[in-house]
Amino acid sequence: LASKQDCRLHYVLTAINIANNAGNIIKDCYHQVKTVSTKDCATDLVTDTDKLVEKLIFSSLKTEFPSHKFIGEESVSNGESSELSLEPTWIVDPIDGTTNFVHRNPYVAVSIGLVINKKSEVGVVYAPILNDLYVAVKNEGAYLNGQRLKIVNPPSSLSNSLIAFEWGADRDSDVLALKSRNLLDIMQKHQVRGMRSTGSAALNMCMVACSSLDLYFEWGPHCWDMAASNLMVEEAGGFNTTTLGCDFDLMGRTIISAACKNIIEEIVPTLTQIPTRRDDE
Ligand code: IPD
Ligand code: CA
Ligand code: CA
Ligand code: CA
Repeated sequence: LASKQDCRLHYVLTAINIANNAGNIIKDCYHQVKTVSTKDCATDLVTDTDKLVEKLIFSSLKTEFPSHKFIGEESVSNGESSELSLEPTWIVDPIDGTTNFVHRNPYVAVSIGLVINKKSEVGVVYAPILNDLYVAVKNEGAYLNGQRLKIVNPPSSLSNSLIAFEWGADRDSDVLALKSRNLLDIMQKHQVRGMRSTGSAALNMCMVACSSLDLYFEWGPHCWDMAASNLMVEEAGGFNTTTLGCDFDLMGRTIISAACKNIIEEIVPTLTQIPTRRDDE
């Protein structure tokens, strides 16, 4: 019988190999004319490459791990269930940052996470255009291109922080008003050094893990945006919570990822919460 260690090594090496193959397809299509369609609204884009890459990732994973469960953004868009059980489940975003991909902005990533008992065990996020490979294994650390990630000297307050926020695809005026209000409140009250939006939830979280950002928050990300990257943050010594500052909830559609707890405690009372629908309802 294989040990738990052997299994996890097999999981992570397989995920890296598949992410690499997926990344090569994304690289090949990056400068080409894309076939773009929309999903929920005019700003919610999907390309033929998103669909192709998810198909290839799932066919490889299913061959290797036939007894496991699978959740992927484009499969869920096609009507498949996003319900998460306790079983080993591969949660995949074939392209995180589809709008960037369409516009040839390099912040695009493949995200592959293995979740067991509803907790991430393995996370691989590969940004093929930037050539950055992030890998995390529960209790074994997080790595960027083979270098161990460890958050050191986190900021003493939000006023010393570079933070990120994402608008998402929703253009409902009430939602936009609440998001704008939050940004204004944070800028005025905390005088943060900057507010970034990369257009990739997974890469924002990876950037918290590698200390390029001190905090990222959003209402709207899905389990496939966070399944791999939440582990990156945690294994680098950072923290993930909901936008209420409660325990991280993979299916809960809200996130704060941060280098340290004190800036989470600082930002939470400033936030006006925005209603979001869970991934599992
Ligand atoms: C989206 C991106 C975006 C974030 C959304 C995600 P997609 O993923 O990560 O930055 O604001 O919440 O859904 O659709 O490009 O895979
Ligand atoms: Ca999408
Ligand atoms: Ca995504
Ligand atoms: Ca996607």
